[in-house]
Amino acid sequence: MANLLIKAEKVRKAYSLTRGLTEYRIQALQGVDFFLPSGIVAAVAGESGSGKTTLAKILVSLVKPDYGRVFYAFAAAKGRRSVFRPGRLHSNVSNIHKDVQMVFQNPFTSLNPKMKIWEMLYEPLYYQLGVPKKNIRQRIEKLLDMVSLNRDVLEKYPYQLSGGQAQRAAIARSLAVEPKVLICDEPVSNLDVITAKEVIETVRGLKNRFLESIVLISHNIAMLAKYSDYIYVMYKGRVVEEGRTSEVINFPRHSYTEKLINSAMRV
Ligand SMILES: Nc1ncnc2c1ncn2[C@@H]1O[C@H](COP(=O)(O)OP(=O)(O)OP(=O)(O)O)[C@@H](O)[C@H]1O
Ligand SMILES: [Mg+2]
Repeated sequence: MANLLIKAEKVRKAYSLTRGLTEYRIQALQGVDFFLPSGIVAAVAGESGSGKTTLAKILVSLVKPDYGRVFYAFAAAKGRRSVFRPGRLHSNVSNIHKDVQMVFQNPFTSLNPKMKIWEMLYEPLYYQLGVPKKNIRQRIEKLLDMVSLNRDVLEKYPYQLSGGQAQRAAIARSLAVEPKVLICDEPVSNLDVITAKEVIETVRGLKNRFLESIVLISHNIAMLAKYSDYIYVMYKGRVVEEGRTSEVINFPRHSYTEKLINSAMRV
């Protein structure tokens, strides 16, 4: 595949849990290969507990895999920012948090409740990107425009926003550092259907103007079918099927994919 942004190979992850004196191991990922080419919206589908969030956290390096490696088209560079080098892949990229950003399901827990929206956007622009103070207001307004938020949210705290507005603010926060990849983990599953559609269309629209690629994670395969180009279907910690979205949806090869599609049709 040309111009890969991320390549994950044979990734495994287990969590340990203790209940009383007994220790349990939950194998969340059992050897996952994942490729993200430039210029696409990739989807990860699968039921609850199939390992979607664990995979996302590994891709943004919030979680370390027990086994396997993740390669990025971003090379660690001297100074603040990593360098985007399409066509070349590197492992152990330290600065990946700026290039690969994640949006979580619940903006009210992912946003700092003590920061007004303008402070939340100011912070990465000033401290991470080093944008001069006199240019920050303009940059913040540009971010708001990207996610279709009005200026009046700037003086508000997250709890004063609607669910849709808060999720847009969280997306703006992720975009502030100008990532190449945005990974959205169930970004609209807390929203009503109309707001969900508006927010997801906003995210999809970002691809052409800003981001190289987007990863949408959801158990809602109907939504993914509509908004993605390529889809990975996960089941019990494995990718059981992948391919172009239209092919996978119209001609599923794995019985689990078929089951997901059929159950989506019923709700
Ligand atoms: N921090 C953790 N500690 C222990 N077990 C965990 C942890 N995070 C996830 N797990 C377990 O790992 C498995 C995969 O979880 P993961 O959150 O990746 O699934 P998911 O596909 O995102 O599910 P959902 O659709 O409910 O968000 C599940 O069995 C889960 O209970
Ligand atoms: Mg999850």
